[in-house]
Amino acid sequence: MQIPVLMFLALLVGQSSAIINYYLESYCNGYSWPIDMSILDTVRLRLTSSLRYNNNMNCSVSLTTSSSKQLMYYFRSFDVENSDSCQYDFLEMHDGTSLRAPYANGFYGKQCGSYVDPFVYTTSNSALTLWFKSDNSNTGKGFDMIITSYHTGICDPDEYSCSNGRCVENYLTCNGYNPCGDHSDCALTVGGIAGIAVGSVC
Ligand SMILES: *[C@@H]1O[C@H](CO)[C@@H](O)[C@H](O)[C@H]1NC(C)=O
Repeated sequence: MQIPVLMFLALLVGQSSAIINYYLESYCNGYSWPIDMSILDTVRLRLTSSLRYNNNMNCSVSLTTSSSKQLMYYFRSFDVENSDSCQYDFLEMHDGTSLRAPYANGFYGKQCGSYVDPFVYTTSNSALTLWFKSDNSNTGKGFDMIITSYHTGICDPDEYSCSNGRCVENYLTCNGYNPCGDHSDCALTVGGIAGIAVGSVC
């Protein structure tokens, strides 16, 4: 009986990593197609797959969802060379499809340093654009953020109705990446789920 339970727990653990990874370092030195959040629903976007980001980076990408939806975003970590007014290395986030759009909610101006803002922010419309630039000295670990597509109003049958009034795809619930933005996606505790598994195996 122990082996099936262990397998089930392994599946649960495996589930939390079921998120698609993107790296901003793949979008450098010129135009790139937007990341289509109407298909992906949620992504984990990190600056780099290395331990530290490179010097002389200039990378930019937009993420867009359906016109009736918005994006929510938060940082899991942030570490970019700190400087006065972030003039050396920085991340800019814009609330739209290009760098001409206003700064994104919660992130006015150039971002640097190592403060991790704990809040989950939302776009005003259906797009978010990021721009990262580094100069020729000093680096950092970069950043790690989660971006999820949602809408408000009446949820579709294949969507989960979050406590904060947001609708997200059902399959995102309990993915370990706070897909609702208020932690209301996974009411059952892991202990509870494991209990059900033990019950059904017995
Ligand atoms: C850096 O990237 C931005 C955004 O894509 C672009 O507007 C700018 O021209 C680039 N600068 C250099 C020096 O390549």
